[in-house]
Amino acid sequence: MQWSDILASRALRMKASEIRELLKLLDQPDIISFAGGIPDPALLPVEKFAAATAEVLRDTGGLQYSVSEGFLPLRKWIRGRMEKLGIACTEENILITSGSQQALDYLGKLLLGPKDTALVSWPTYLGALGAFNAYEPVYDRLSLRGNRTVAQYQAAAAEAGGKVKFAYLSADFSNPTGLTITREERERLIDLADELNCAILEDGAYQQLRYNGEAVPPILALEIARKGDIEKCRTIYSGSFSKTLSPGLRVGWVVAAREVIERLVLMKQAADLHTATLNQMVVAKVAADDFDGHVAHLREVYGRRRDLMLDALAREMPEGVSWTKPEGGMFVWVTLPEALDGAELLAAALAEEKVAFVPGRAFFADGSRGNMLRLSFSLHEKAVTDEGIARIGRAIRRALQK
Ligand SMILES: Cc1ncc(COP(=O)(O)O)c(C=O)c1O
Repeated sequence: MQWSDILASRALRMKASEIRELLKLLDQPDIISFAGGIPDPALLPVEKFAAATAEVLRDTGGLQYSVSEGFLPLRKWIRGRMEKLGIACTEENILITSGSQQALDYLGKLLLGPKDTALVSWPTYLGALGAFNAYEPVYDRLSLRGNRTVAQYQAAAAEAGGKVKFAYLSADFSNPTGLTITREERERLIDLADELNCAILEDGAYQQLRYNGEAVPPILALEIARKGDIEKCRTIYSGSFSKTLSPGLRVGWVVAAREVIERLVLMKQAADLHTATLNQMVVAKVAADDFDGHVAHLREVYGRRRDLMLDALAREMPEGVSWTKPEGGMFVWVTLPEALDGAELLAAALAEEKVAFVPGRAFFADGSRGNMLRLSFSLHEKAVTDEGIARIGRAIRRALQK
């Protein structure tokens, strides 16, 4: 069977990345990995989950089908959290999704036709590109410095054969750079989207994990403050429990104007009916039990690990290497001298130093820049971070001498 003869064009857009092969080597015990962007398993509230699951399973509700919108008590809890961030809404503005990754897929499906333009940060979250690719868009670079005019964006989109449909970004502690955009940049983005008449997809996956500096209101909060009502807003916010409570349970959410949520509910009905009932009920119970105390602990631990990584980089990186100083999240983004390539460095670093990271090229929609690395600081304490960053330093020095 020649499957390629009958595949849909969208399937051809979905490709495995070449780095996956290299990262398979990570299972070897003596490799130090800064590659995965995952929570430390030791910080997941396993006992609370065990107790909550036992409680939920006292009756059969958690084993039953439920509504596509999501478990109402969980939506009410999320509404309270959103309100604290300045996002005034009702439960009808919230849809529970199977992780925020599903929200990205649905939003791509909702908004992108073939050849439409998605504006994305340069670099951006690799998984968002993966989700959107299936809908055959064209990517253009989102610039928040105001150095591209509305007419330029529109002309580029028209030339590509479609319209600008949305701008996607992580406003807080982005994956991969760890950087946060300023309030002024957020305001400018709302202006730009108003002029382009496109949506803003605000990915809040890391929003709760701030270690220092002042919180900046979400873009959706700023837009509500301007326009007075979420129903008038073009920003669609996605959130997640993956970085705080559990990535394995796959519980995330979308907050947006009711019209958007109603359409996403239809999509969810068609795709998977609803997010696992048991998971939603258990997450609702665990979230209601001192979520702020739990997140404060995560902030303390991850904040310390971030500092350890920044200290180690300052000590070990050769001249010509620079890196971001994130105020939260899980990642530091390293820029190597132009002549080096992150993927080649990974191959050498794995073979010669037994250390891993994610090369940066895959985070650029056009694959244009190769001299970057993403390092995650979420898993390791001082001894491992110091040793691992020293190994990367040696691998870079060696590559520079070639
Ligand atoms: C920026 C960003 N958005 C979304 C996701 C998807 O997370 P989940 O589907 O687990 O909520 C991730 C996961 O790493 C991420 O880094």
